[in-house]
Amino acid sequence: MAFRYGKVAMSGSEFRFVKTGVPGLDELLEGQGIPEGYHVFLLGSPGSGKTTLALQFLHYGASIGENGIYISLDEAPHILIRNMRRVGIDLESDIKSKRLALIDASPIRHIPGTVKIGAFAIGKRDFSLASLIDAIQNHARELHAKRLVIDPISSFLLQYPDEAERRTAVMDLMEGVATLGCTTLYLSELVETGTDRRYQFEEYLAQGVIIMRRVLKPTGIVNSIQVEKMRGVAHDVQPHPYRITQNGIEVYPTELVF
Ligand SMILES: Nc1ncnc2c1ncn2[C@@H]1O[C@H](COP(=O)(O)OP(=O)(O)O)[C@@H](O)[C@H]1O
Ligand SMILES: [Mg+2]
Repeated sequence: MAFRYGKVAMSGSEFRFVKTGVPGLDELLEGQGIPEGYHVFLLGSPGSGKTTLALQFLHYGASIGENGIYISLDEAPHILIRNMRRVGIDLESDIKSKRLALIDASPIRHIPGTVKIGAFAIGKRDFSLASLIDAIQNHARELHAKRLVIDPISSFLLQYPDEAERRTAVMDLMEGVATLGCTTLYLSELVETGTDRRYQFEEYLAQGVIIMRRVLKPTGIVNSIQVEKMRGVAHDVQPHPYRITQNGIEVYPTELVF
């Protein structure tokens, strides 16, 4: 039987790695992947490929028996399925075989007055963190999920105009989700101006941060991915190019973006 995880000794206790399923990305993570159960923020500019990468992560998980839940706070599942088919990733078969569930939690814009989270319908005013956490927990337990994606948390956080409230909401969400033990990707927009960028509070809360950017070079636009933080892992810190291909996202770990 093939080994799905690598193992590494960490201060007396071992932890396991979850393969991302993105060619080249695990190379930046000791050749292993993301430590199992970690909460990782995937930050990026709009259109950089965050959603594609996250669904690829779940699709790969489904192929090796690590079931996944995708909580969509933005795009409708049928749109995601269609877009992913265009990059060679068939989510429908994962859904049919109950290895993946795409949960539409995008009520605020799409379903005025009500919130629909899978089979649950909740009044818009009652849409709360608690119901979101509840729904995530129910779906994850039902599917025995090992992988979880919340995309994008920036949409969810629009409800909290106050920065301190936003921070508390993210912490509550992370805490509620942590009980599941899933390796979790939280997707969010990257706040950046020119070459400078403001550190976002998410980065202090997460065990890992991966950043996807579109960078303007004299030769044109280059996509760049960088593992900014992965606690306990001797990760590569340099930005590397990636492409969105007909087989999903591919990272080129031996090339650099400068
Ligand atoms: N069929 C395709 N082939 C290659 N690239 C594509 C294809 N469809 C979309 N893209 C690229 O993927 C990007 C959208 O990726 P997405 O994962 O939705 O980004 P994000 O979630 O970061 O906004 C588009 O901006 C486009 O550049
Ligand atoms: Mg997206």
